[in-house]
Amino acid sequence: MKKIAIKGTGSCSPERVVPNSYFETIIDTSDEWITTRTGIKERRMIEKGQAMSDLATLASASALQMAGFSADELDLIVIGTSTADMLSPSCGCMVQHRLGAKKAVAFDVNAACPGFIYGLAVAQKFMQDGSYSKALVVGGEIVSNRLDYKDRSTCVLFGDGAGAVVLGHSNGNDDGEILAMDIESDGDLWHLIHVPGGGSRIPASHEMIEKGLQYVRMQGNEVFKHAVRTLVGSARKIMAEQGITSDEIDWFIPHQANIRIMDVVAEKLGIPTEKVIVTVHKYGNTSAATIPVAFDEAVRSGRIRKGDLILVNSFGAGLTWGATLFRY
Ligand code: UT7
Repeated sequence: MKKIAIKGTGSCSPERVVPNSYFETIIDTSDEWITTRTGIKERRMIEKGQAMSDLATLASASALQMAGFSADELDLIVIGTSTADMLSPSCGCMVQHRLGAKKAVAFDVNAACPGFIYGLAVAQKFMQDGSYSKALVVGGEIVSNRLDYKDRSTCVLFGDGAGAVVLGHSNGNDDGEILAMDIESDGDLWHLIHVPGGGSRIPASHEMIEKGLQYVRMQGNEVFKHAVRTLVGSARKIMAEQGITSDEIDWFIPHQANIRIMDVVAEKLGIPTEKVIVTVHKYGNTSAATIPVAFDEAVRSGRIRKGDLILVNSFGAGLTWGATLFRY
């Protein structure tokens, strides 16, 4: 089986900064509540008219440039998103069109927050047997227009963004390698985070809009418990599989939903806070984008270096969760 390496990274966060103080003007909340309960200070949101493929295309172009690949060399494009530009076609096809990646096969993986990890797993499978040699995997989400700005328990939590990696076959020891993957789902708990309207069960209608069924609904407290359990379990599983202990991990990039979840998970895994990459304070929860954006920023700032051992994990609607261990 061929080894897969990350050859380039890229990300794109919208320019519009929305600080916690904005929510103080529209709902009964405070900067103090949001900061202490979530760690979020501000988030980025798109301007009206922008969409998922705008961010995904820019993130992908940066990743391709770092990898030194041209778009027409790509065999595969997988976008982890549940907020494509349109219900159909996929965001993958939009990104293919905009990059000019003529020979790639392109599609989306709808796995909510772990969409990037699911996308990596799918690309890895296609590449391991040599079917494809160059792949683009994006994690991105536009959550800002799926939020009910009257629901204080959800609207303060999320933001928009996209991150990308370009994968190729590993050239050897100094080229990094994806070591282990775990992806899991539990559809019995679908109701804990969902968007009821706009799909085939409750299609778009005046009534649907009047009832606000197009917005994210989440049972935050319940989700919190499952998040800690699954994030720890998934990470432990792949570390044990590889015989790797927590002190060997150079960097841990957990899903950036809530600093309290991130702290508990890192503590349970025995990873010290100085090894945890944190972006939740400036971007909020950007769903599938949290990990690839944090990863790209850490690579570009020089924190993450070639050869580092990195653990990432994520959790979200489905329920879905997963973890990946790789040497950069
Ligand atoms: O990425 C997908 C995965 N999602 C997650 O991982 C999210 C997991 N859950 C969480 O991060 C947390 O549960 C939340 C941040 C969503 C909520 O924090 P919490 O500490 O679990 O708060 P809570 O839901 O238990 O609510 C505590 C109180 C309630 O008031 P009462 O009933 O105690 O009077 C809420 O009404 O805080 C209230 N509250 C707020 N107060 C001010 C909820 N939202 C707000 C708010 N501002 N924005």
